[in-house]
Amino acid sequence: MAIERTFSIIKPDAVGRDLVGKILAHIEGAGLKILATRMVRLSEGQAKEFYAVHKERPFYGDLVNYMTSGPVVVSCLEGEGAVAKYREIMGATNPAEAAEGTIRKLYAENIEANAVHGSDSLENAKNEIAFFFEDNDICAR
Ligand code: CMP
Repeated sequence: MAIERTFSIIKPDAVGRDLVGKILAHIEGAGLKILATRMVRLSEGQAKEFYAVHKERPFYGDLVNYMTSGPVVVSCLEGEGAVAKYREIMGATNPAEAAEGTIRKLYAENIEANAVHGSDSLENAKNEIAFFFEDNDICAR
């Protein structure tokens, strides 16, 4: 399998509950390398643009409010089949349906406050990395 890059967000609920270290350790423990990471507070405009694909969904407004409610930790990850691997270790979007031992099963509160985001395709990973790490020599290429 090819070496890929993917994009991660540790969301406001998890940052607020001091889970950043545990989640980053979980990511590293699964064999994904953290190429870059930083804490940011999303503006309303950034959150709307990042989740524009969901703008017709009924949860879009709440999602934008939630994602701007506190700081998040954005990371660029690298590893073999990184996109699928990160989705596997995150677990299902809804923590009630997430497999045992996954980040969402361990740490998420509900389907919205679900602790983490990970890119769902290589193409989206490239776009999401560019969105947050455009000027980062290590990540953006
Ligand atoms: P994420 O993987 O970041 O992608 C979209 C986000 O919308 C999702 O995680 C959740 O935080 C949020 N969300 C809220 N309600 C729903 C829902 N019913 N289905 C999917 N995502 C939802």
